[in-house]
Amino acid sequence: EKGGYEYFMLKEIVEQPRAVADTLLGRVAVDGTLTLDEMRLAPQELRQISKIVIIACGTSYHAGLIAKYAIEHWCRIPCEVEVASEFRYRDPILDRQTLVIAISQSGESMDTLMATRYAREQQSRVLAICNVNGSTIPRESDGVLYTHAGPEVGVAATKTFLTQLVACYLVGLYLAQVRGLKFGDEINTIIGQLARMPEQVEKVLSTVEPVRELARSLADAKTVLFLGRHVGYPVAMEGALKLKELAYMHAEAFAAGELKHGPIALIEDGLPVVVVVPSREGRSVLHDKIVSNIQEIRARGARTIVIAEEGDESVRPYSDTLIEIPAVPTLLQPIVATVPLQVFACELALAKGNDVDQPRNLAKSVTVE
Ligand code: BG6
Repeated sequence: EKGGYEYFMLKEIVEQPRAVADTLLGRVAVDGTLTLDEMRLAPQELRQISKIVIIACGTSYHAGLIAKYAIEHWCRIPCEVEVASEFRYRDPILDRQTLVIAISQSGESMDTLMATRYAREQQSRVLAICNVNGSTIPRESDGVLYTHAGPEVGVAATKTFLTQLVACYLVGLYLAQVRGLKFGDEINTIIGQLARMPEQVEKVLSTVEPVRELARSLADAKTVLFLGRHVGYPVAMEGALKLKELAYMHAEAFAAGELKHGPIALIEDGLPVVVVVPSREGRSVLHDKIVSNIQEIRARGARTIVIAEEGDESVRPYSDTLIEIPAVPTLLQPIVATVPLQVFACELALAKGNDVDQPRNLAKSVTVE
């Protein structure tokens, strides 16, 4: 059932275009109208929401962080994101107008389940985003939007993450739709681009061979740093988490703007630093700032591994390795930018001889708090 691959994870990475397509299937009409009636939350309720709180663990938490950028920008609803294990222990402010979104691919993580129960006790509505039909978290929630990644065997999440992103985008766009926000050109463009994501992911997969070579060359590195800004920051966090989980290597992500407030002291000769460069569309200020960051760290000896959209020549002179991804709207960039990082961590772990399906000490879903 590994489809000719040595590990499920390798198969699950290449299944991502289909996983993304299946998660979009039947939900986006040709005219851009979204149909998410299956969520079981009435448009009337969704119109009354004054705040959104996203709770999740691990990789699902990173999907939540990305969702915040999209939801706040498209819907203008304040949105907080918190790791589920912290949530209920700090007396969070919840009420009937708060929509809690619980993201869990397995639907069984105990931390997320306990946070879900707590939120419902506080009268909040809970929407689950989940990959496993009929699992506990969706059963205990008010509504659910299923991702259609298919079964994921590898312990470290890959295709479920990409489909969680799709689900989060769909929820954000749907909220904007039912709340009657003016669907300007930007939203229509986004929906059109979202529908094209399966082919964009396919394109990334067809160009990742150099990432594998790079990963093999770094098998002896002690640590790898990841930098990103805006939605690229949670992508950097996901890249670092994958490396820890699979390669048992120290890795840390920073918001690129924070570099000067401390982490730049870590930069020394030969230190690998992966930088996720924001797309140039609409947010060129951020783009330019991160290009200066790359220059700064390289001047201090870092080995720069730069993930940037194709045709972005501005980063080339400062990149020891340049990994190109398709040009897509900034908010959707995590879907394409994450893929090379998955491949990077997986290949590096394989070079070290690790079992990437069953990393040591980890479980697919953790059912204790
Ligand atoms: C961890 C897994 O135990 O649980 C991670 O090792 C996963 O890969 C995390 O991201 C959260 O799981 P779930 O099922 O709640 O999304």
